[in-house]
Amino acid sequence: MIIGVLNQKGGVGKTTLSVNIAAFLAQEGSRVLLIDADPQGSCLDWAATRKDEPLFSVVGLPRASIHKELGQIGAGYDHIIIDGPPRVTDLARSAIMASDLVLIPVQPSPYDIWAADEVVQLIQEAIVYKSDMKCAFVVNRKIANTAIGRDVREALAAFPVPILEATVTQRVIYAEAAALGKAVFEIDAAGPAASEVSALVAELMEFTK
Ligand SMILES: Nc1ncnc2c1ncn2[C@@H]1O[C@H](COP(=O)(O)OP(=O)(O)O)[C@@H](O)[C@H]1O
Ligand SMILES: [Mg+2]
Repeated sequence: MIIGVLNQKGGVGKTTLSVNIAAFLAQEGSRVLLIDADPQGSCLDWAATRKDEPLFSVVGLPRASIHKELGQIGAGYDHIIIDGPPRVTDLARSAIMASDLVLIPVQPSPYDIWAADEVVQLIQEAIVYKSDMKCAFVVNRKIANTAIGRDVREALAAFPVPILEATVTQRVIYAEAAALGKAVFEIDAAGPAASEVSALVAELMEFTK
């Protein structure tokens, strides 16, 4: 499956989720390719920081030709994750055209909810050409038991895009793991972050059946 993790807003968790989804799928035995479509190259930095054996391949492809090149580059992989760029619309459009599923991380903040409009619009344009393409929101950096954590689902319901049941909580382990070039399950395999990533991946796989 090709999962594009996209949102033109920066800092919503695209790279954090891309890396952890890729690592989780790889750890389950899939051959995984992570495409870093952000000119900033955060996934490449993550991979370069890593001391352990790589779990999956990472390539930088910050070009609006991802959808054309993926057939060649992605041959032989079970799953491809595309970590999308902030802002650059032509790159985001290309990443959407390449994806079977577009996953849109949003934080429980009004700014994120307003900004989601942009990526939803790009998806609606692409769906005209790719009617079987799927998309979903995932709430990231949820703060447990807060009203804003609950309200975000209600606010997102105004968009014609489903919201995953799985959510990712605000936890320092996400940043700590990134600093070491690791996935959260490599730091604490039995911890709550590892289980929420596992639940997210399970829902993504189920969603596209
Ligand atoms: N669930 C989370 N809990 C804690 N920190 C997070 C979480 N998700 C992302 N972050 C932090 O937020 C910042 C932005 O995340 P990042 O994945 O780089 O976003 P994007 O790729 O969308 O710009 C990073 O410092 C990252 O470590
Ligand atoms: Mg990023």
